[in-house]
Amino acid sequence: MTDEADCRSAVTRLNDDLDQRVVSNVAQAIWLPSPAPGVDRRMLDRNGGEIGRSTSIVRFAAGAKFGQHAHGGGEEILVLEGVLSDEYGSYPAGSYVRNPPGSAHTPFSRDGCVLFVKLWQFAYGDHATVCIDRRTAQWLPGLVPGLSVMPLHEHAGISTALVRWAPQTRFSQHVHPGGEEILVLDGLFVDEDGEYCPGTWLRNPRWSRHTPFAGPEGALIYVKVGHLGADLLQPPAA
Ligand SMILES: [Fe+2]
Ligand SMILES: [Fe+2]
Repeated sequence: MTDEADCRSAVTRLNDDLDQRVVSNVAQAIWLPSPAPGVDRRMLDRNGGEIGRSTSIVRFAAGAKFGQHAHGGGEEILVLEGVLSDEYGSYPAGSYVRNPPGSAHTPFSRDGCVLFVKLWQFAYGDHATVCIDRRTAQWLPGLVPGLSVMPLHEHAGISTALVRWAPQTRFSQHVHPGGEEILVLDGLFVDEDGEYCPGTWLRNPRWSRHTPFAGPEGALIYVKVGHLGADLLQPPAA
């Protein structure tokens, strides 16, 4: 076994206590090899081996291909850079894709891509296949002036959206009964606990609260709420 394979196999638990707040600068995480040549990952959270709950940044080198695989617990993808392809289509940067439990595909990237990927984080009964292109989907008015929302998916109290903040927009203090997860995509996102630049991944536990606002250039964030502690599909016992 190579050193890299040793390193990969050692990372089976990372940030897996969902009651703990986590703030990660994605760019500081090391790239680890996946089972497929040319496909590397930065782990954000993980509870299990290759079959288990995980959140990660995945990078396909130009021409890289991941073998055909089924999604036992569902797969959620936000394309951050480049173009991801599989036998069903191509998904440029800004695409949001949900491959539900029981689906399968053979992904590849002709010119390379970077993805935000969540595995085994689907609620029971969530069978929707979703493919949304941020470039053409509609923005809806948010709860306060300056806020725009692009709903991505909702099921059983778990909702996922992109939220766009005009410069200096302030949101009211609010509680996250089911937790909140954020990936900052652009601009500067701020709350009373810190300032978060693009590439920052936040996980605020259940019943946490904050009063967020956007910096002088605004912000674009991916947000998921309601999933921490929810009744999610469980991977088979190892
Ligand atoms: Fe997949
Ligand atoms: Fe929040």
